[in-house]
Amino acid sequence: MVVKNPAELVLMKKAGEITKKALDLAKSLIKPNISTLELDKSLKEYIIKCGATPSFLHYQGYPASICASLNDVVVHGIPSKDVVLKEGDIISIDVGACYKGYHGDAARTFPVGKISPEKERLIKVTEECFFVGIEKLRVGGRLGELSSAIQQHAEKNGYSVVRELVGHGIGRQMHEYPSVPNYGHMDDGPKLAENICLAVEPMINMGKKDIFMERDGWTIRTKDGLPSAHYENTILLTKNGVEILTI
Ligand code: CO
Repeated sequence: MVVKNPAELVLMKKAGEITKKALDLAKSLIKPNISTLELDKSLKEYIIKCGATPSFLHYQGYPASICASLNDVVVHGIPSKDVVLKEGDIISIDVGACYKGYHGDAARTFPVGKISPEKERLIKVTEECFFVGIEKLRVGGRLGELSSAIQQHAEKNGYSVVRELVGHGIGRQMHEYPSVPNYGHMDDGPKLAENICLAVEPMINMGKKDIFMERDGWTIRTKDGLPSAHYENTILLTKNGVEILTI
């Protein structure tokens, strides 16, 4: 586990703030008829204007600055001029900013105009999953307490948890040890150190948990075609509890 010193935490907080503001910008732009490529362009420009760089751009060959995942796309939707939002859609925007070598990473699922009550509930429960999870985190405790709380909350609401994709430690690298699964048992996982940063990111499917990857090598969709939601924040665990850096 990568423990951060106070000077590093200052930079993590700044990276988190830029990431959060990029999501605020996304929220203000999302409306019927905008393409996901336009969202990518605006958020990229904003991140650069803040003196940061988009963490996702060129990461393992990823071609854009954000992931824009529509309806049954779980994560890693590649922005495109051909993906145009329409009333009733849900769109997950995932974005990361790297400030002076430190990364922030966060995601939200937004409604496009008026959406169905079923989709509204999916978004709400996915957010709740994040909060019931982080409530369990404490220095010296086990990561599995978060994982199991998230899984229970999702399944109690009739939803399923994606297994193949997980949260992660974050800092100088976007992905650091440990993996942060959204399922599992409370007595599993590593014991948590003080002053670590994690990206906690439940990905919750309305239907079954099964997913597949498209032939573009990135886009992940639900097999049953039902919608999926994503809610992610970068957090800091201290002896006094959890601080959310991207909210
Ligand atoms: Co992440």
